[in-house]
Amino acid sequence: MLKVGILGTGTMAKTHASAYRAIDGVQVAAFADSLPGTLDIVAKEYNAKAYTNYDELINDSSLDIIDVCLPTPLHKENTIKALATGKHVFCEKPVARTLEDAMEVKKAVDAAKGKFMVGHVVRFFPEFMVMKQMIDEGKLGTVGIARTSRIAAQPHGVKDWYENMEMSGGVILDLIIHDFDYLNWFFGKPKRVYAQGLFKKTQEEMDYALVVIRYESGVIAHVEGSWAEPSGFNVKAEICGSKGIIDVEPYKEAPLTINLRDPEVKQAGVIVPEAPVEESQYTTEIRHFIDCIINDKTPRVTVDDAIYALKIGLAALESIETGLPVNID
Ligand SMILES: NC(=O)c1ccc[n+]([C@@H]2O[C@H](COP(=O)([O-])OP(=O)(O)OC[C@H]3O[C@@H](n4cnc5c(N)ncnc54)[C@H](O)[C@@H]3O)[C@@H](O)[C@H]2O)c1
Repeated sequence: MLKVGILGTGTMAKTHASAYRAIDGVQVAAFADSLPGTLDIVAKEYNAKAYTNYDELINDSSLDIIDVCLPTPLHKENTIKALATGKHVFCEKPVARTLEDAMEVKKAVDAAKGKFMVGHVVRFFPEFMVMKQMIDEGKLGTVGIARTSRIAAQPHGVKDWYENMEMSGGVILDLIIHDFDYLNWFFGKPKRVYAQGLFKKTQEEMDYALVVIRYESGVIAHVEGSWAEPSGFNVKAEICGSKGIIDVEPYKEAPLTINLRDPEVKQAGVIVPEAPVEESQYTTEIRHFIDCIINDKTPRVTVDDAIYALKIGLAALESIETGLPVNID
């Protein structure tokens, strides 16, 4: 039995806990939260230990896995401490709030015995896995354009940490970092970023950004993110290549539309809406992490992947400040 200790008892801690519970051979054995609130309730639900001190959970020798579900600025310190114990570590995205912190995490990951993965969950959405496969198999031909949007209401975390730009990094570092990650997964190395944004330029709760990424392969991606909606959550992605287009709207009943050019008639044809069967993507993601631990595999999202997604986000924030494009090294 693999025993998991979760840092945090907020939204993602509860989501991860229920994912672990769905997986055979895994037990959520402890939670830690330094703030009063939901710790005892959540720990009781899982018949788990409750710690009010993160170090005590991290150093609990009965645990095999530490899962970091804390606000972003708390990822680095707790991840590094957890890796130093030799345990396996799962950390929610973004890997850290700053590039300096992320590089410290990378150093710890490189020296660690345990597995490490960051929660870039979109790589585990079935529609996005189909997209990746079609791109890799050349079914879309040469890809030139990606258009994505992720539109939501301003989230409200414990002590309003999402509203605090210094903590969350706003819509860019917290929300559309998901899109940066899967676009990098699809297209490889990003070269240049240009962005416009509304953060605190209009009224409160109108964080919006439009980010253009140029990839070394030549692909142009435009990524729209918004925390300006009154409610709801809408996600779209469209990838266009020389042989056709694939369209994804994961929260729709038929989330996938494949529109391939028919070379015979030289016009768009073959529109195939599909609804891939799914379990919770968080369960799929965590099931994959557990599989990597048991079978000694490299997790789908490495620390370097997480750092590249962060680099795009930080470059976009810089571009908004300066009005200039920013090169990614
Ligand atoms: N992968 C995804 O789809 C996804 C979705 C939402 C959030 N996230 C990420 O998960 C992480 C946790 O987000 P969440 O929505 O669970 O947050 P949350 O606000 O719901 O929970 C935060 C937890 O950290 C604890 N905490 C300790 N110190 C704190 C402090 N100074 N301020 C606020 N909380 C403090 C809180 O008590 C709580 O248990 C973040 O890094 C976030 O970016 C990922």
